[in-house]
Amino acid sequence: AAENSIRPLDFSQYIGQKKVKDNLEVFIEAAKMREESLDHVLLYGPPGLGKTTLAMIIAGEMGVHIRTTSGPAIERPGDLAAVLTALEPGDVLFIDEIHRLPRSVEEVLYPAMEDFCIDIIIGKESTARSVRLDLPPFTLIGATTRAGMLSSPLRDRFGVHARLEYYEEEDLSRIVTRSGDMMGVAVEDDAAREMARRSRGTPRVANRLLRRVRDFAQVKGTDRISLNEADSALENLHVDKLGLDDIDHQLLNTIITTFRGGPVGVEAVAAAIGEEANTLEDVYEPYLMQIGFLVRTPRGRMVTPHVYEHLHLEVPGRE
Ligand code: ADE
Repeated sequence: AAENSIRPLDFSQYIGQKKVKDNLEVFIEAAKMREESLDHVLLYGPPGLGKTTLAMIIAGEMGVHIRTTSGPAIERPGDLAAVLTALEPGDVLFIDEIHRLPRSVEEVLYPAMEDFCIDIIIGKESTARSVRLDLPPFTLIGATTRAGMLSSPLRDRFGVHARLEYYEEEDLSRIVTRSGDMMGVAVEDDAAREMARRSRGTPRVANRLLRRVRDFAQVKGTDRISLNEADSALENLHVDKLGLDDIDHQLLNTIITTFRGGPVGVEAVAAAIGEEANTLEDVYEPYLMQIGFLVRTPRGRMVTPHVYEHLHLEVPGRE
């Protein structure tokens, strides 16, 4: 609920992702002019950039309901059939982590997306027959952190492909200020800027840091967050000047000390620090690669000289 109360509810409240937003606004307006459902939309990019929020805004702007589920939650074709047949005309079906849909379910999705119908099998063995069910027109919004893991037939059935990018510091700073307003705390401009700089380009991180910084301010008896306040709270949270946390530090230090800077496979790093390889791949590595701290080579991950400088270590091979 806390998450929902600060979520932007329409495009006028939504900050950043200008390219994606501007295009979606056109596609939505055009669909409304034609009185059609919006074409299926694939949202992809790192976690925490607002894919669910965008799906909710799209449904709101289209004036339709949204039904939300996720790839892992739909185990069998019948689960998907149940969801699809409950839709009303024009509704949005949001499938998060769509790359984790079982293949057997994907196959039900193809005719549903293309022709708004599904074939279901009734009866068993020799009496089994296939029955075609018509569906209302609907918009599938799929979200994934890994567009490359979607099968190409599925990917090709989305008419709109929207790639979300890490937010600019300026936009994140506005998000911190806006969220602060909604939570009843005034965040001074330089404090908002500092929190933005340390939020890894990600609104979800920015809002989480804001809540924790607010806790520190609250206990100190103030409803204003100054740069000093933000700074000391972030230090207590072990979020460094670039927004890296303890897990980032462990990951980088492990590659440096245990694996001599790499190359090393992600599985080996994950095992060494006790995290899931998937979590490292989806959550931690994309940002470290974005800021040029980590590179992927055919033989595995390597840290770059920037890391040694940031951690105040001697760069190997440099006099
Ligand atoms: N909170 C989280 N993401 C946001 C965004 N893009 N705009 C405004 N507030 C947000």
